[in-house]
This record gives sequence, C-alpha cells and structure tokens, in this order.
Amino acid sequence: MEQFAVRGGRPLIGEVAIAGAKNAALGILAASIMADEDVVVRNLPDVSDVNTLLEAISDTGAVVRRLGRHEVQMNGRSIRSFVVDNSYIRKMRAGYYMLGALLGKYHYAEVALPGGCTIGSRPIDQHLKGFEALGAKTSIKNSMVLVEAEELHGANIYFDGVTVGATINVMMAAVFAEGKTVLENVAKEPHVVDVANFLNSMGARIRGAGTDVIRIYGVKSLHGTDYTVIPDQIEAGTFMAAAAATRGDILVKNVIPKHLECISSKLREIGCSVTEYDDAVRVTAHGDLKKTRLKTLPYPGFPTDMQPQMVVVLSTASGSSTVTETIFENRYKYVDELNRMGTSITVEGNVAIVNGVKELHGAQLVAPDLRAGAALTIAALASDGDSLIEEVQFILRGYEDFVEKLQLLGGRIKRVETDTEARKFLMKLDVI
Ligand code: EPZ
Repeated sequence: MEQFAVRGGRPLIGEVAIAGAKNAALGILAASIMADEDVVVRNLPDVSDVNTLLEAISDTGAVVRRLGRHEVQMNGRSIRSFVVDNSYIRKMRAGYYMLGALLGKYHYAEVALPGGCTIGSRPIDQHLKGFEALGAKTSIKNSMVLVEAEELHGANIYFDGVTVGATINVMMAAVFAEGKTVLENVAKEPHVVDVANFLNSMGARIRGAGTDVIRIYGVKSLHGTDYTVIPDQIEAGTFMAAAAATRGDILVKNVIPKHLECISSKLREIGCSVTEYDDAVRVTAHGDLKKTRLKTLPYPGFPTDMQPQMVVVLSTASGSSTVTETIFENRYKYVDELNRMGTSITVEGNVAIVNGVKELHGAQLVAPDLRAGAALTIAALASDGDSLIEEVQFILRGYEDFVEKLQLLGGRIKRVETDTEARKFLMKLDVI
C-alpha cells in the first residue's frame, strides 16, 4: 500500500497553485447531467473523489468525455439508468448528489447510502425532508436510497440545521419543480454558491445563494454551458497552515482571498503574516506563534475541514489553545496519532485542549481520513524527524499532486510503496 515517507525540519518556502474546489466540482458534475446539451466543466481537480463520481455518472449512460486533465465534456441526453450502486458510493460521499439531479430530471433515483470520511454519523434526513416537501416519496431498502415523484412542485423548506449536502441536493431537485421553492437556513459555503452559479449558467433561476435564503423558480429544461470551477478553499487553507506550522513562507496562488478570510484572520491572530493579493495570499511565520480559541462553524465561520490542520499549527504555538468542533462529532480521531509525535492534546467531547510544545518528533502514522491525513503530513514536515504515513489514499481523495506540491516548496516527502523504499529515500537524504 502506498505511504508517504517524510523528513521534517525544514520551513516550506515558495509558491503553490491551488486546484479547483473538490466539493464544488462534485455538485457541479452531478448537476451537469440535468442538461440534454453539451456541458463543459473546467478547472476540475484531478482527485479520486472527482474521478469516481465521473465513473458513476458515465455508468448511467451519460456522455463523459475527458478533454484534458482538468476538463470534461458531459451530456445527460443518453442516460439509461437511474441507479448509482454501492461500488462507487462506498468510496466517497458525494454520490448522493445524483439523488437530487436524477430526481429533478427524471423523477426517479436509486443511490446507495453514502460513504465518505468517517468523521461522524452523517445522516441524510434533511436531504429526504427536502425531497419529500417537493413531492417525492423516499425510502431506504437494502442500503439503497430510493426517491421518486409523479411531479415535483415548489415548496417552503426550513432546514433543521445548516447542511451543505442537503442545500445543494434539494436546490438541484427544485430547479425543475413547478413554481417557486424557498430554502431557508441554508449553507452559504463558496461551493454552494458555485453550484448555484453553474446551474444558472445552464438556464436555472436560483436566487440568493450565499445568503440564508435561496429562492428557486422552476424551469422546464436546462441548456449547455462552459463553466470553470472555483479554487479550492480547503486546499488553499491547508497550504496556509503548512506555511504556519513549518515557519515557512508560501505564496498560495489561484485563490479567492475572500473565501479564505476565516483562515487568514485566525493565522494573523496567532502571529503569522498574511498578505492578500487579487488572486493569491502569502503566509509567512517566524518564531513563536500565540495560542488562540477556535470554533468550527458553517461558512463564513472557521471550516471544519480545516480543523485538524489548524490543531497541528496550534501544537507548535506557545500556550494552551482551545478548539471546539461543532459540525462533526467524530473529527478528532487523528489526535492519538499526533500525540505520538510529542504533541500534548486532550479531547473532551467536542473540545480539544491543545498545549503547544517546543518540538514535534517523527513517528509512524496512520491517516484516519482526508483532512486529518493532510494535517498529519504537515505535522511530519514540521517535526524534527522521520515519519511514515499510511493509508494515504484518503489524502489523494481530495488533494491533487499533494506530494509534488510539497516537494516544490522544499518538503522532503516521497510516495513510496514499501518500508524498504521509504528507508532508501530517507537514507539518501542523509548523504545529501
Ligand atoms: C460537506 O459534507 C463536505 N463534503 C464535507 O467535506 C464538509 O466537511 C461538510 O460539508 C461541512 O462543511 C462534500 O461537500 C462532498 P453537511 P456534508 O451536510 O454535505 C448534519 C471534506 O473533507 N446533517 O454540511 O456531508 C451532519 O451530520 C469533506 O472535503 C444532518 O443532521 O456535510 C453535520 O453535523 C468531509 N442531516 C452537519 O449537518 C442531514 O441530512 C453538516 O453536514 C445532513 C447533514
């Protein structure tokens, strides 16, 4: 199995270009099948979650034609199957977007219960509540979610909690519902707005995405489009955290600085320098960083997907920081791994007390999920020793060329297949 071999102890310095947003791309690709004309999607990240969803979409009979590493042409006209089975879904979560897209267009969908990162119980009750309000019947049989409707009609839907997935899914289904749908207490994440903008570029009439209320005026059909996905907020944030943890200096390019404000302001608060440009941010850190309090919240709050990376940064700061996770109840699984590197973190319920330490040591580590895996990699690069990180397939689900980008920043890291290969790589560094 593939692993990362890492030698820490060097600040990461240089420039990195950020790929398209994974979580926007997943919604957009599912929504692409709602048109019966050619749709071109650009700036797709080349990551396994996106590639798996493309395979699942292709299996429905839709046209999926790769135009390049980051571009795809799709057409939903030739869809024959409304079933997305478990072989795709167990590898990722976003297959559930096929529920909203297929229900909206064909009034029928069968999709395996979603998999994805095991960071909490991750129910889909709010998705189903929204579909039902639009007139669909929903059921779960043999681990498949079935949604069907004779017709879809506009409705007023108030989500019980802020959810990205349900907001996007119900918004998609409502595009073809007769009349007006009002979604309240919706997620405002940049990728929600990007999916809405994409649908509007195909002729949908969605208003208010990015605010608490989204209004959707039903249309009869969607037309083709040529659309470019926004940059990935979390990939950008991860490299910003890498600059901070290694006391480096990274220019993070191809970003929308506004989407990063929640991260930039926390990094500034603990003593990093963050400079914003039109489409880049530069993060520089030297010497002592300060403790802080941090709480994950829906956008524009601090993203849960940046919580593990920020905990690594705070482990290298002076004093005792408090981190509260309010979105997913099981997102501290990486803490035991981190503590084996010499960090001093205790978790009680959804609160982590992060006592800063002078040094992190190398260790043999296992990535428990995507973002935690990225965080452990940053910790390994910030440590004073050698680390081996297993289960890195989680990390490759969401970061394009992660290792290559870190290498360009001066990180001593390599993808290896065996322990022997890892030892060889690390021994070679001894003689350089
Ligand atoms: C999306 O997951 C992202 N995934 C996650 O990113 C991200 O962590 C999360 O949003 C929060 O920002 C994709 O976009 C594919 P939610 P999602 O619905 O949609 C509860 C990553 O690392 N909830 O916003 O599944 C839920 O339990 C991944 O890239 C319900 O109770 O998250 C959670 O507590 C990991 N009922 C909260 O809402 C529901 O029907 C937010 O979940 C749906 C959600």
